[in-house]
Amino acid sequence: MAAEGEPFVIKFAHVVADDTPKGKGALLFQKLVHERLAGKVKVEVYPNSTLVGDADEMQALLNNEVQILAPSLSKFGKYTKKLQVFDLPFLFDDEAAVQRFQSRETSRDLLRSMADSGIYGLAYWNNGLKQLSATQALRLPGDAAGLAFRIQPSAVLEAQFNAVGAKPVVLPFAEVYKSLQAGLVQGAENPWSNIASQNMHKVQPFITESNHGVLNYMLVTSSEFWMSMPFAVRSELEGIILEVTQAVNREAAALNQRDRDRILASGSSKLVALTPEQRQAWREKMMPVWQSYENEIGADVIRAALTVNRKR
Ligand code: LMR
Repeated sequence: MAAEGEPFVIKFAHVVADDTPKGKGALLFQKLVHERLAGKVKVEVYPNSTLVGDADEMQALLNNEVQILAPSLSKFGKYTKKLQVFDLPFLFDDEAAVQRFQSRETSRDLLRSMADSGIYGLAYWNNGLKQLSATQALRLPGDAAGLAFRIQPSAVLEAQFNAVGAKPVVLPFAEVYKSLQAGLVQGAENPWSNIASQNMHKVQPFITESNHGVLNYMLVTSSEFWMSMPFAVRSELEGIILEVTQAVNREAAALNQRDRDRILASGSSKLVALTPEQRQAWREKMMPVWQSYENEIGADVIRAALTVNRKR
């Protein structure tokens, strides 16, 4: 609660750099709130895990130490199993398909899937599709065997790497660069913008353009905090969030393309392009994971996600 006459303070914490889709979205949100709700709401943005890291951020939200987060969809497993749908490898044909799914009813319902835990989903923000990086060229699934890969805390991602004989290691985002540099893990999976903004390409000589999975975000707040604000303030904030969401989702692909170009121009990493047959080999190894998680996610949710792949 804000004290009488004082603005509501929204601490928006995240783990990536400012010059990424999420980082830019947080700053645009701050700017629009400043322009439209000055004196009523004040937004403070804390990038790069400076206030709280990804291992503790959800608890910090529920303790009202931060008021908005945008964790990747892979980080909600403690609160709902349904969002694991976004982690299923090779589920979506491309980022446009993910975008279509995010605007459909099933995804809108998933914004409410953590209501029992007091978590209120506000929007989906895009980053992009993930690429596999490593200390050696990964062309076929067997090339990953025995290598340790950093993963986000997701059972599906763990199963995905187990499926190719690799060793998944859960690490907070803030530790990825130094763990790769120290050789604690040999590989990772990230969208181009996260690779570039953390300089991971400097310690990953090969990047396979696999586009095998998605890394997008859910903008979340706590129901208790959100409902503590007057209706008019909430409505204005929700309008701003809609505007920012559209901007983030319009620009994310271009930012990833820019960072892909920068990485390749730097010469630090070599691009491994997969032939259709090689990509199919990864797909075949990883796809059994869908079956293993169908009960937890719900066959209906997976079916709804698959329908967006039909080209129109
Ligand atoms: C990761 O941990 O790899 C990502 O969730 C980081 C982020 O927020 O993009």
